[in-house]
Amino acid sequence: MDRHGDGHGDSYSQTGRRADSEISRFDRAKAPSAETDLKTSTELSRVSKRLYRSGSPIFRAMQRYRPYICPFGRLLDETPRNARVLDVGCGGGLFLGLLASEGALRQGVGFDVSGKAIALAQGMATSSGAPISFERIDAGDDWPDGPFDVVSLIDVMHHVPTKARRSVVEQAARRLRPEGLFLYKDMCDTPRWRASANRLHDLVLARQWITYCPVEDVVRWATASGLMLEDAETINMLWYGHELRVFRKS
Ligand SMILES: C[S@@+](CC[C@H](N)C(=O)[O-])C[C@H]1O[C@@H](n2cnc3c(N)ncnc32)[C@H](O)[C@@H]1O
Repeated sequence: MDRHGDGHGDSYSQTGRRADSEISRFDRAKAPSAETDLKTSTELSRVSKRLYRSGSPIFRAMQRYRPYICPFGRLLDETPRNARVLDVGCGGGLFLGLLASEGALRQGVGFDVSGKAIALAQGMATSSGAPISFERIDAGDDWPDGPFDVVSLIDVMHHVPTKARRSVVEQAARRLRPEGLFLYKDMCDTPRWRASANRLHDLVLARQWITYCPVEDVVRWATASGLMLEDAETINMLWYGHELRVFRKS
């Protein structure tokens, strides 16, 4: 199967990642967990270091080491080449920056509620010359107009107030073109020790006591919004547990 739909299913990207997997979606969905590739994380960390040349040393270190705790390799693998991508809660824009550095992005739009994060993301886009724009928007307000090939929501839902969560999924579905993909990635709420480790992480770094969004709710809301579940994976990196869900608009 050629995931990117470009006839190059067996090619390798600039980071050396296989552009396609020999494991079928069905098999991956059944796997209880997968240890992600340390080599991939190291390569993505190097790209991240090149992308962020301004900002505080703490911010740059967070971007540089994020590929070791967040499965960007899997997220990049799921993203079709030459796509228009809307990244919701983009933070410093790392996902879009990594996509652009692979030459795999036609257009990227990122937004985040944090003005500081958006300023850093804009600095990255300017210095890298990537075709990405960033805006400060709360996910509870109006989103940039679509349609997009991909809408991504990476480690954002556990920060969104409970009442606003369903509408985030509904807005994601509305911004997609037919056949477009919704990439949902958040932290696992089980096992408890992994969930607690991440809670501590957010308490220290984001100064927020987070509440997890049951992934079953996300699947239900997405399905009701015309999205079909295509892939479900649990991915462990260090002490962090991730749940990835990939939906396609029918
Ligand atoms: C853990 S960071 C993830 C950033 C980025 N997606 C990544 O993976 O590198 C969570 C981000 O969600 C943003 N966020 C939280 N609540 C939000 C909201 N209501 N609207 C937009 N962004 C939000 C935060 O400002 C923060 O940048």
